[in-house]
Amino acid sequence: MNRVLITSALPYINGVKHLGNLVGSMLPADIFARYSRARGRETLFICATDEHGTPAELAALEAGQDVATYCAEQHEIQKALGERYGLSWDYFGRSSSIQNREITQHFARQLWKNGHLEVRTTRQVYSNAEKRFLPDRYVIGTCPHCGYERARGDQCENCTRVLDPTDLINPRSAVSNSPDIEIRDSAHLFLKQSLFVEQLRTWIDSHDKEWPALALSIARKWLDEGLKDRGITRDLEWGVPVPDDIADGQLKGKVFYVWFDAPIEYIAATKEWADANGKGNIWKSWWHDANDVTYWEFMGKDNVPFHTVGFPVTIMGSGEPWKLVDRIKGFNWMNYDGGKFSTSGKRGVFMDTALELLPADAWRYYLIANAPESADSNFTWDHFAGVLNKDLADVLGNFVNRVTKFCIARFDGKVPGEGVYGEDENTLIAEMDRRVAQYAEFMEQAEFRKALGELRAIWVTGNEYMTRAAPWTHIKTDRDKAAVGVRMGLNLIHVFSHLCWPVMPSMARVMHLAIQPIADNAEVLPWPDYPMAKALDELEAGQPITAPDVLFAKIADEQIAEWKARFG
Ligand code: 2FM
Ligand code: ZN
Repeated sequence: MNRVLITSALPYINGVKHLGNLVGSMLPADIFARYSRARGRETLFICATDEHGTPAELAALEAGQDVATYCAEQHEIQKALGERYGLSWDYFGRSSSIQNREITQHFARQLWKNGHLEVRTTRQVYSNAEKRFLPDRYVIGTCPHCGYERARGDQCENCTRVLDPTDLINPRSAVSNSPDIEIRDSAHLFLKQSLFVEQLRTWIDSHDKEWPALALSIARKWLDEGLKDRGITRDLEWGVPVPDDIADGQLKGKVFYVWFDAPIEYIAATKEWADANGKGNIWKSWWHDANDVTYWEFMGKDNVPFHTVGFPVTIMGSGEPWKLVDRIKGFNWMNYDGGKFSTSGKRGVFMDTALELLPADAWRYYLIANAPESADSNFTWDHFAGVLNKDLADVLGNFVNRVTKFCIARFDGKVPGEGVYGEDENTLIAEMDRRVAQYAEFMEQAEFRKALGELRAIWVTGNEYMTRAAPWTHIKTDRDKAAVGVRMGLNLIHVFSHLCWPVMPSMARVMHLAIQPIADNAEVLPWPDYPMAKALDELEAGQPITAPDVLFAKIADEQIAEWKARFG
């Protein structure tokens, strides 16, 4: 059987992520990993914080901390939050780890040895006030084209023209506002990506059927526009140092560009996982000569070029049999109330505050059911509350509640054994077989909106059956018939809990525990991968059940109004 390797784009270290970040990579990767484990597949789900680069340095500066301390703290915050959302990483690493330093340097040495790197002299802005080089976008000044006074050195926000920092009138540092800046020559390593265009094209074409249109079109656009050689080093202090044995030490004191080392951290975090768990060299079997591994990557669309071109060139250029991605799942943007979620602008709902409002599973359900898969999607409070009230309270919650309560009231809280399944039940079983197979098929393809549509339809099917079976009516005249309805209802709750587990792990547990205990060491609620005739007739007669607390309490109008005001 194939092993399944899953990575989610690494969240930047600079602060708590918003829900748009969560739905665009970490959450779908988790749901897919849980599904894969539920199917009994050997699965490794890896993520990490992306800790290098100027934004990390500046965030640390703003927080008044040295960058290493800042990153260590923020990593713990993001890790703890991820766990509260049930993100079931096998390992949540750090791109600033020793492992990543070593493996990044290894790749660079291979690229150098194979003649794919070149030293070039570039002109960089140096700030005398800060005593550091400034990346282009941290130089601001007046746009020579439109006169906008806060144009960035890489692009004018106002007229969108692409700029060079030397184009700016009255240039100054965006960090300190100091105009005391100068242009200095600086040597950098360039990766000759242009050499790889044909190899990349062949590789991308070989995934024509597997990658979503979004990923294919972004990747091909990059190739069609002509791949530029890419500078992979920077004049910064914080990052993976360029080793002295590359280019005779000409790059001494420089570090690799954050986008060079970040994807390598997927591999390095796997080593961190192995090192932390005494698994020795096993990490390598997931990445090196790993022909039995299917590798899935989850990311937002802005990340697609780095994963279809940048990182693959690093791997191809190494000349070693490292794993290339098999399946890419790219997402569009989820917007917030018609605009963008924004970390710097603090606009939208963030992972920490969201949990003050509702439990993680409610967010997981809503976000993934409305994931921006084929187009951008939009978060609004009314839609959010409407979906949760309907799906989780009226459909699923109400079903669980009425079946368990009735069983307790009329059948002594035990699975009733009387009566036999008849035509109604067989019709339901046939429909469940069809729908569960369809749900599984969508999950296999990581088509989450469709999968969730099917999951919801499965709950509705159960509800409709219950309305037809109406044990509350039959109990007065035909106890056996009522017993059949209740028994089926309890079996449905049990099956629902297994089917819900990848999406809503905590709620799934609550549902399951109401019907049947879960072994203490069980980490997974496995997929019911046998016919529904068996799955829906599994509970032993006489087995005690309980009624869980309300699964999901309806969101009241006043509550929505309050949230709107708070996050408006
Ligand atoms: O866009 C981002 O949030 C990046 N931090 C993603 C990095 S993914 C990877 F390649 F490391
Ligand atoms: Zn302009």
